[in-house]
Amino acid sequence: MTSRIIGTGSYVPEHIVTNDDLAKIVETSDEWILERTGIRERRIGIEEGTSFMAAKAAQRALENAGAEAEELDLILLATSSPDHCFPNGACEVQAAIGAVNATAFDISAACSGFEFALSTVQAFVQSGVYKTALVIGVDCLSKLTDWTDRGTCVLFGDGAGAAIVRAEETGIIHTVMGSDGVRGAVLSCAARNNGNFLNGKQPELDYIYMNGQEVFKFAVKKVPECIRQLLDESDTDIGDVKYFVLHQANSRICESVAKRLKQPMEKVPMNIDRYGNTSGATVPILLDELNRNGQLNRGDKLILAGFGGGLTWGAVLLEW
Ligand code: UT7
Repeated sequence: MTSRIIGTGSYVPEHIVTNDDLAKIVETSDEWILERTGIRERRIGIEEGTSFMAAKAAQRALENAGAEAEELDLILLATSSPDHCFPNGACEVQAAIGAVNATAFDISAACSGFEFALSTVQAFVQSGVYKTALVIGVDCLSKLTDWTDRGTCVLFGDGAGAAIVRAEETGIIHTVMGSDGVRGAVLSCAARNNGNFLNGKQPELDYIYMNGQEVFKFAVKKVPECIRQLLDESDTDIGDVKYFVLHQANSRICESVAKRLKQPMEKVPMNIDRYGNTSGATVPILLDELNRNGQLNRGDKLILAGFGGGLTWGAVLLEW
């Protein structure tokens, strides 16, 4: 028994912010952003927060799967930008969609969150604990972005993607996850409350920090490496993979991964031009687009792969 994706959904905020809009608040240009990242515009939630976007994506995924919320016995929500410390975002989605029979919790693995969540669902399904799960990748990084830092603020957007996963005979073939906490400082957001009545510390507000070049080097090495591991361990020929659905952080990273794997860009779809880097949501949003555009057929082999803060990385090989 394995877990199969039977429906997908996504949601992005209505408000579009173009590169030219950003050039009005920081010293940058449409030309620089497009050439260095592939991004033309991104969506920023004015009122739409993490749980709101996640619930919208979840409802769309349920509709797409032809499933009812009551059928869900597990909700895993991957985010590094929850609206609150608690209740967790998964419980808020549970309440919003009426998934009264589900156990719900969050997973934090930054941009690799969706792959981590899918791998966790797979373990639960294989062990027979749960049968029907909702997996969500969602982030609202606009609330954690320093809008005066041109090195990061041009990159991110808000959004959510979701998948309904059910225990079936075919579906996920293999998963790989990894972490390197020693190098965590190259991509971080240190907002925290370390205070109590003894140490007298106050809550600290902080924003995303990124050493872009270090993260870039990490990504172009680690993503092909973990995809090769996934293929080797599952004895799969790379030529049999129809699409590599990669984390949308930078079009140059996607191109470099394709080159290192000796795969044509037709097998590496991208939508970063429209949404920027929505962190844990990029892979499920892209998957939902492929699904709704009719580009996926039963039996197609796909690899989903992400990397990000932690540092973390993860990849999932599945049959559609
Ligand atoms: O999902 C999270 C993972 N994050 C990532 O995957 C991001 C990985 N890194 C990247 O995508 C790239 O490193 C960036 C897009 C962030 C930066 O591109 P880069 O080609 O590595 O640029 P750089 O940092 O080497 O900067 C080159 C120049 C610098 O100016 P000088 O020192 O050469 O005069 C920067 O100050 O570009 C400047 N610069 C900008 N110029 C205009 C940096 N950001 C901007 C900007 N607009 N927004």
